[in-house]
Amino acid sequence: MSGMKSVVRGVGSYLPQKVLTNAELAQLVDTSDEWIVQRTGIRERHIAAEGEFTSHLGLKAAQAALADAGLTAADIDLIVLATSTPDQTFPATSVVIQNELGITRGAAFDLQAVCSGFVFALSTADAHLKTGSFKRALVIGAETFSRILDWTDRGTCVLFGDGAGAVVLEAVPEAEAGGRGILTSHLRSDGRHRAKLFVDGGPSSTQTVGHLRMEGREVFKHAVGMITDVITDAFAATGESAESIDWFVPHQANRRIIDASAQKLGISPAKVVTTVELHGNTSAASIPLALDVARRDGRIQRGDLVLLEAMGGGFTWGSALLRW
Ligand code: ACO
Repeated sequence: MSGMKSVVRGVGSYLPQKVLTNAELAQLVDTSDEWIVQRTGIRERHIAAEGEFTSHLGLKAAQAALADAGLTAADIDLIVLATSTPDQTFPATSVVIQNELGITRGAAFDLQAVCSGFVFALSTADAHLKTGSFKRALVIGAETFSRILDWTDRGTCVLFGDGAGAVVLEAVPEAEAGGRGILTSHLRSDGRHRAKLFVDGGPSSTQTVGHLRMEGREVFKHAVGMITDVITDAFAATGESAESIDWFVPHQANRRIIDASAQKLGISPAKVVTTVELHGNTSAASIPLALDVARRDGRIQRGDLVLLEAMGGGFTWGSALLRW
């Protein structure tokens, strides 16, 4: 069923109440506010409370996105949740959210592409909506990375935070979409880099959850090239450009990676949405969280051309271009 577009109907997000500042972190590990801000741009991050799980954050973001869309859970027939920090090994955390929303029809599944998860989930939901199998999807990114951090490793524990964001996508016939919707998406993976950013545990290997391990310099070295390659693909596929986009909403890993990518692509700093300062790296949640911030403060308007990109463990990376 060609001729369908996946149009964003609403966006929402949720951050746990507890804020952890750089100064507080400096009491846990040998670091400083100055070091963290200079290298990453991060000043604080939110941390889930005891007993507050990824499903709880994802549910609240989903409810906010539904309210923004003026829809109810009954309107949703597909849930794709991007997460690397599920409540349990199985069932999928999306099913927990589906149940909490009271949805008993359609399908819900989790997708794991680490920090690229939201772009992978958006692209996957778009493909399903275009086939006509589903009508409206909740695409959620939700993470509790605080649970897989080694809080004695200053090289990683200062970088990440918890949170969730969600969008509602609706399949609309192209003739009625008025140019809106997801225009293109480009997904990539290369497992040769799998040992540069990984978790050292899992059900099949260690029967433990494990902790995040990262070669920060190696990640940094590859990030800008991978990000800009996949954005160049998005521009080539659509004829759009750094000049024609209204907003660049990148995965929020690190201020320096974001700035270097925008600069290499010739994207004006005024078009770049950054939230890393207050959220840290929330992995698959970072893009929908940033979308929600820029939507609520009035930057992203209906009809705007919005460029998304992410890069993460695997490595995985991807881009999506959409007209809001
Ligand atoms: N506070 C103070 N000093 C620190 C800290 C810290 N939190 N962490 C490391 N250091 C020290 C190191 O021990 C090292 O000290 P040494 O020279 O005495 O050995 C020194 O700082 C330099 O360490 P590097 O790791 O080389 O520091 P670098 O300049 O590369 O910055 C950083 C580290 C911020 C992690 C950087 O490499 C980076 O941003 N990498 C990308 C990481 C990233 O964004 N990952 C996520 C992307 S993918 C995803 O989102 C899942």
